[in-house]
Amino acid sequence: MSVPLTQPFLEVRGVKKKYGNVEALRGIDLKAYTGEILAIVGDNGAGKSTIIKTLSGAIAPDSGEIIVAGQKYHKLKPKTALAAGISTVYQDLALVNTLDIADNIFLGREYKTKIFCLDRKRMRQEAKELLGQLKIQIPFLHAEVGDLSGGQRQSVAIARAVHQGGRLLIFDEPTAAMGVKETITILKLIKSLAQQGLGIIVISHNIEQVFQISDRICVMRQGEVVGLVKTDEVHPNDVIAMITGAVDINNRGRE
Ligand SMILES: Nc1ncnc2c1ncn2[C@@H]1O[C@H](COP(=O)(O)OP(=O)(O)OP(=O)(O)O)[C@@H](O)[C@H]1O
Ligand SMILES: [Mg+2]
Repeated sequence: MSVPLTQPFLEVRGVKKKYGNVEALRGIDLKAYTGEILAIVGDNGAGKSTIIKTLSGAIAPDSGEIIVAGQKYHKLKPKTALAAGISTVYQDLALVNTLDIADNIFLGREYKTKIFCLDRKRMRQEAKELLGQLKIQIPFLHAEVGDLSGGQRQSVAIARAVHQGGRLLIFDEPTAAMGVKETITILKLIKSLAQQGLGIIVISHNIEQVFQISDRICVMRQGEVVGLVKTDEVHPNDVIAMITGAVDINNRGRE
C-alpha cells in the first residue's frame, strides 16, 4: 500500500464546530487523496460524524476552510458538496425500497424518452455497465432494493454515489449492520474503488477492519485530530492507545 504523492483532493483546515457548550470539533486539519483509503477512528463522541457532516454539507462549521479540488469553501451545502465530487454513502437513507436497482442509481436524474416517459431500458443498461465496471455483483438486476441484503443495498448506494460524480466517497460505519460474508464483500469493494482511483474516507470502530483496508489512519479524540499515521507503520495497539488517550502521537517524539 502506498500513499500517493499528489495534491490532496480534499483539505480541511482549522474546522471548528460547537453545539452549545460542546466543542464537537476544535480545529480539524485533514487531507484526503484520490486513490487512497483514509480511516477515521475515535471513541464515541470524538467528532467523527460531525466532521463528515461538514464535508457532506449537512452542517456548517463555525470556522475553518474546506478545500475541494483546489476550490476553497467556508461551508458546503449538500448540492455543492456533491457537485464538487464529495459523496457520502448511507446504507439506507438514500435508497427507495420500492424501486429497482437502476431506478435507485438514477434517482433524481432519470433518463426520459422523447415522449417524457422514463427510459427504463437505457437506465437499466447503463446501471448494468456501471455495476460491472465497479465489480459489483448483484444477481437480480430487476429486484426491488427493499428485497436486497444489507451489503447489496450498500453496493447500490455506492454505485449511485459514483454515478452522481463522486470522486471522494465517505462511509460512516459501512459494515456496522452486516454479517461476516457481506462485510468481506463490501470491504473488498471499497478497496477496489480506491484502486480504481476514487478517494475513500471510512469511519470505523473496527480496528481490525481499519488495518485490513486503510492506507492512513486519522485518530480523533474530543474534537481533535490526535494522530495521523500510515497504517503499515503502526501497530493496532498504538492506535487503540491513541483512541483512548493512553498515548498521544504528537508527544511520541518527546518520549
Ligand atoms: N446535533 C447535535 N446537537 C448537540 N450535540 C451534538 C450534536 N451532534 C453531535 N453532538 C455532540 O458532538 C460531539 C461529537 O459527536 P459525533 O457524533 O461527531 O461523534 P462520533 O465520533 O461520530 O461518535 P460515535 O462513534 O458515537 O458515532 C459529541 O459530544 C456529541 O454529543
Ligand atoms: Mg458517529
